[in-house]
Amino acid sequence: MLTLPDLLTDLVRHAARAVLEAAGQDASFLEQTEAAVATNDPTHGDYQSNLAFRLTKPLRTSPRAAAEGLVAHLPAHPALRAVEVAGPGFLNMRLDETWLAAHVAAQAADPVLGLPQVGAGRTVVIDYSSPNIAKRMHVGHIRSTLIGNALHRMHEAVGYRVVADNHIGDWGTQYGKLIVAWRRWKDAEAYAEDPVAELERLYVAFGDQSKAADPVEREAMEAEARAETAKLQAGDPTNRALWQEFVQRSLEEYDQVYLRLDVRFDVTLGESFYNDALPGVVDAALACGAARQDAGAVIIDFPDPPEKALKDTILVIRKQDGAFLYGTSDLATLNYRQSTWDPARILYVTDKRQQLHFKQVFAAWTRLRAAQGQDPATLPTLEHVWFGTLNFDGGAMSSRKGGTFRLVDYMDAAAERARAVVDEKAPELSEDERADIAEAVGVGAIRYADLSQNPNSDLEFSLDRMLALDGNTAPFLMYSYARLRSIQRKGEVTAPTVDKLAITNDEERDLALHLARYPEAVALALHTSRPNMLCDYLYALAGCINRFYRNSPVLNAEPELAASRLALVEASARVLAHGMHTIGLRAIDRM
Ligand code: ARG
Repeated sequence: MLTLPDLLTDLVRHAARAVLEAAGQDASFLEQTEAAVATNDPTHGDYQSNLAFRLTKPLRTSPRAAAEGLVAHLPAHPALRAVEVAGPGFLNMRLDETWLAAHVAAQAADPVLGLPQVGAGRTVVIDYSSPNIAKRMHVGHIRSTLIGNALHRMHEAVGYRVVADNHIGDWGTQYGKLIVAWRRWKDAEAYAEDPVAELERLYVAFGDQSKAADPVEREAMEAEARAETAKLQAGDPTNRALWQEFVQRSLEEYDQVYLRLDVRFDVTLGESFYNDALPGVVDAALACGAARQDAGAVIIDFPDPPEKALKDTILVIRKQDGAFLYGTSDLATLNYRQSTWDPARILYVTDKRQQLHFKQVFAAWTRLRAAQGQDPATLPTLEHVWFGTLNFDGGAMSSRKGGTFRLVDYMDAAAERARAVVDEKAPELSEDERADIAEAVGVGAIRYADLSQNPNSDLEFSLDRMLALDGNTAPFLMYSYARLRSIQRKGEVTAPTVDKLAITNDEERDLALHLARYPEAVALALHTSRPNMLCDYLYALAGCINRFYRNSPVLNAEPELAASRLALVEASARVLAHGMHTIGLRAIDRM
């Protein structure tokens, strides 16, 4: 199914080709041009083309004359009701309502809601969430989980095979310290109650004790920790089992969050998984000349940087003492991902502080591959999706004394508030139904509060704001959806269809046009890796839906009109539900 801009682009290009060929000019550049974009101002039509401005040179004419030429050669098509030349040479196109209604009906009947399956046959690896074990997820991991999961769903919606990879931080020298602290100070009861909190306490305790100790004692502690780390890394069974236990308990805690957010990973391959591959990475980098020895360390520098930010920076891949680093591990991870899944793209979702790290890793890996003779065109596209900081209600929930922020507590608080509203608005529903709705609204509100903002911005969460029933919030979208379903219930429509869809007034036209633009919104959100683009679309869609049923009685209309409006209700419900699902919101029939 063609999207509106694709269809109109085809028509305008067709006209341009005819005009150029008539003038004996080359038309091949047209394939690269964008020939139709949606207008923001309805007085300019629904779509506009500025292609005429590109034709003035080959045609040696004014943009207006070129535009007139395009109009004259535009093939007749039922989608177009009116085309006119405006201003200095724009082509304003207005869609035909009968055609639009049929298009929206066909789109709503399509299982993928008209989304071009641009990802078919392609794989994307999305590295997200990726917390560090024996610690709580901090806000960075929460944002990574939410944004990464939206990108995951968006890619699936256009047919990609997605490999969601939770790249947990589960390796490093800190585990030696943790093992020492565990042997000395563990509180079995606290551990049974809340394992990750106790592990976090122990790790902090090691640091505090070491700081408070006299130099001799401190050195002894550090040496002991180093020895435990070495034993762990050498495969000592006792330390291995302990480490395994820490990883297990941590994953169980994270799973509580993932379960409530309906987040699923295909693989959880943390840093430890790549440990054995690290020496090979360094050897290969040295052998191909991409890395060099520098004062006992092995480094990769960027003498000819692909980006300014890399100038005069270095990526250390082995320290003087022989230890490997985060970057070494990410290079090994890239090798593995390429050879295992042969992805077209790899996305990494982390906070903004890792921007330089990923620039270095991407540039280093690309260089390594090139030095090993691989054609750069066959490498996956690497993209770092970064996000800003997040605060909760002015810090009220964050790191309370003696405990750290727990996302599950915040989700509980949001669900509890939502519950109060549901109890008031829908007392007729059963206890179970109300609990289920409150959970969906509360968790959805948190998710949407993040996704609806540009990832790059710093965020301040407020339960009041995110739970508001109006404004750009999850409850507003969810409520708009439930209203559509409630119209159908009142009309006793048991098997809703979309085929009678027709456009009879301005609000219906706006709504239908907005529905037809769903694929554009998904494409834009994917192209920019910004789920908020899709949220903006859904918010505007809910606005169109509300204006539609405020101005167009559905069930009280005479039968033919009622039927076409019910079809529009159903088409709206399908697109809204699909869009909500694509960002991870549940579409619930009653609220
Ligand atoms: N565990 C890391 C952190 O908490 C994030 C890992 C991101 N992924 C990666 N391949 N480096 O900062």
